[in-house]
Amino acid sequence: MNRFLFISICSVFLASSCTKEKTPFTQTPTCNGTVSFANDVLPVIQQSCSGCHDANGVGGYSFTDYSNISTNANALLSSLRATGPQLMPQGGPALPDSTIQLIECWIYQGKLDN
Ligand code: HEC
Repeated sequence: MNRFLFISICSVFLASSCTKEKTPFTQTPTCNGTVSFANDVLPVIQQSCSGCHDANGVGGYSFTDYSNISTNANALLSSLRATGPQLMPQGGPALPDSTIQLIECWIYQGKLDN
């Protein structure tokens, strides 16, 4: 790879919040077009998570709007892939792979507020 490009990408990467949260991807997700936050992501979260993760923030996380979902997107994604008591929605079953992939793609595409 072009060395300058490589260094530029690394700088952007370091300047972002990646230092706080580990990157959630083990490999590049396969995405089918641009994911919509309002139409694809939010309805899933509202249905599966917001009942417990309301404004009071059970477990320290509110998942109710673009701001708190995008800020904690990596923790959110990790919980969908977790096992045992860490798996969310709490008590299972896990969300379908296709739904988890949709959320992966939304994060991968830059967590658009679209
Ligand atoms: C039935 C209630 C309930 C539902 C539904 C639920 N959660 Fe949770 N969640 C909890 C509770 C309770 C905790 C705190 C658990 C603990 O601290 O051990 C928690 C903790 C978490 C944490 C923090 C985990 C950690 O290790 O710190 C994340 C992230 C999370 N939930 C994400 C989600 C997501 C994403 C969804 C929807 C897919 C969801 N939760 C649905 C009850 C729920």
